Amino acid sequence: MDRRKALFLTTGIAAGGGTVALTTAFKPHIQPAKKPGRISPSKPAGGWKYSNLNPAATAALAHKNYTEGSCMYAVYTSVISQLADKFGEPYTSFPCHMMKYGHGGVGGFGTLCGTLNGAAALIGLLVSDKKTQNALIADLFRWYEQTPLPEFKPENSESEIPTSVAGSTLCHASTTNWTQASDCGIGSKERKERCRRLSGDVASRLVTMLNDFFEGNYTAPGFDNETVRTCVTCHGKEGKLKTVSTDMNCTSCHSKSVGHQLFADLHYKCMQEKE
Ligand code: HEC
Ligand code: HEC
Repeated sequence: MDRRKALFLTTGIAAGGGTVALTTAFKPHIQPAKKPGRISPSKPAGGWKYSNLNPAATAALAHKNYTEGSCMYAVYTSVISQLADKFGEPYTSFPCHMMKYGHGGVGGFGTLCGTLNGAAALIGLLVSDKKTQNALIADLFRWYEQTPLPEFKPENSESEIPTSVAGSTLCHASTTNWTQASDCGIGSKERKERCRRLSGDVASRLVTMLNDFFEGNYTAPGFDNETVRTCVTCHGKEGKLKTVSTDMNCTSCHSKSVGHQLFADLHYKCMQEKE
């Protein structure tokens, strides 16, 4: 049977039995929040050494470099150029121009925000262990989803840029939410300045994390998204449905149908676990 038909069927059965109250009794235990916790430093990967960087200076550099190659390039080069000053090779020969591809959510396609793409690339370069990379990336991405940004303000600048909460790691959602919050157009100079300052924010946040991490003082802040935990309890690989693998904020794209709100618990309770 088609899965959506199955949902309607249980809807009918449940409605017939007048069991709205009953359905709450079938609620599965939702996945627990990730507790704040220490993440141990891993060895630098290959010759890609790290040394403490000043977050404010890094933010200013990212803001400056934005005009050369946009968001991803700005974040990436703000860190690499400083490490090249400290260590020389291999940093000096890194082909940074490649990072221009990430602008506008990858070639202007509006997918992953370029500032995050740049920061995640740096985590990938500097942190050798994959699980640790994932943990750091998740912290950074959740912070980005939930924090009113931009915060960074260049020295000697009088102009105020309105803030917005992206609710998503996607360039499209992030920039469009901002146009609504600010009443400025997507092609406006204010929007460009917003993304330019955002590059400063992400660069600064990243080096703050990396400084703590390589000193062995990094505590994952436990940024949480209760909706994601709830949804993946049933839809994720440990639930019965096993159709969803993402940590993105589900409600930035989905709202639950009425049938789902009333009867998903009961339907879920009755259904077979997928292989
Ligand atoms: C109690 C388990 C459970 C939870 C929690 C849950 N779902 Fe579902 N969901 C189901 C079941 C059962 C179906 C119907 C089976 C199917 O179509 O695969 C379904 C179907 C869906 C569908 C497709 C059909 C529809 O009604 O729209 C979407 C989209 C969806 N869920 C999104 C979500 C989101 C987003 C969340 C979190 C806000 C969520 N679900 C939480 C069990 C659950
Ligand atoms: C960036 C937008 C986006 C986000 C964020 C997102 N989804 Fe989706 N989801 C989609 C799209 C697009 C589809 C495909 C829908 C289609 O083709 O009908 C989909 C499909 C689904 C379906 C199958 C729907 C059906 O009709 O059977 C489920 C269930 C679902 N998503 C759950 C989730 C859950 C749970 C989360 C969070 C952990 C999530 N999604 C996050 C965009 C998103």
